[in-house]
Amino acid sequence: MIVVASGADPVYRDALGGAYPAITWCKDGGVVDVSDQNGWLKLTEDDPAHSQWYIERFRSMAAAGADLAGEARFIDAMLARGSRVLDAGCGAGRVGSLLASAGHDVVGVDLDPVLVAAARQDHVGPRWLVGDLAELDLPAQGITEGFDVVVCAGNVLTFVAPSTRREVLRRMCAHLREGGRVVVGFGAGRGYDFGEFLADAEVSGLVADVLLSTWDLRPLADDSDFLVAVLRPAS
Ligand SMILES: C[S@@+](CC[C@H](N)C(=O)[O-])C[C@H]1O[C@@H](n2cnc3c(N)ncnc32)[C@H](O)[C@@H]1O
Repeated sequence: MIVVASGADPVYRDALGGAYPAITWCKDGGVVDVSDQNGWLKLTEDDPAHSQWYIERFRSMAAAGADLAGEARFIDAMLARGSRVLDAGCGAGRVGSLLASAGHDVVGVDLDPVLVAAARQDHVGPRWLVGDLAELDLPAQGITEGFDVVVCAGNVLTFVAPSTRREVLRRMCAHLREGGRVVVGFGAGRGYDFGEFLADAEVSGLVADVLLSTWDLRPLADDSDFLVAVLRPAS
């Protein structure tokens, strides 16, 4: 099976062309209010069962053999063995757990304590922390060493409160070690224009090295409905 990002969500297809159901990140199909509040917090306030629904959805897809590893494969290919990875907006640990299995030292941070509890339950090894990326300060929590990659997959940035986007990007950049990179992936039509994101990244001290439209390395085009951006510090 290969992963291709399509529409507002990744769609997983097998190599023979059989289609798997599109992954939706929220029960309403993925569209969230883009007013200046955290979209994930709003979802969970509106529906307190949302986090558990999300956890079970991915657990059942994994149990059914769905390929949920496209992002982790991409990141792993960027890294020397035994690298340090920050999974920013880790959710229930889908991406970070696979990178830990590949031998990397993984820290995951997420706003949602229900998802972090599931990550701790399902994936022993990485450090899974509850926290807001807009206030990210891992050295203050005793994690003083920087990261080789900060990965922010699964539309996380489209949930972040718009007024905090630049601060989130700035803090991700600040948590890199020398030579480190930030990798962000999110879909179009979710209230965060790709051009606006790239401008925010630049203001936050990040330069785009590689822009793609999928986690399996297809090029970005004007009409791409997904963005995967590999960014490095400007200096
Ligand atoms: C659709 S989930 C993706 C989870 C995970 N990255 C994945 O791909 O499986 C979006 C996640 O972003 C997290 N998130 C949104 N805003 C955040 C913030 N300001 N700080 C930390 N996590 C945040 C949510 O709690 C949620 O777990």
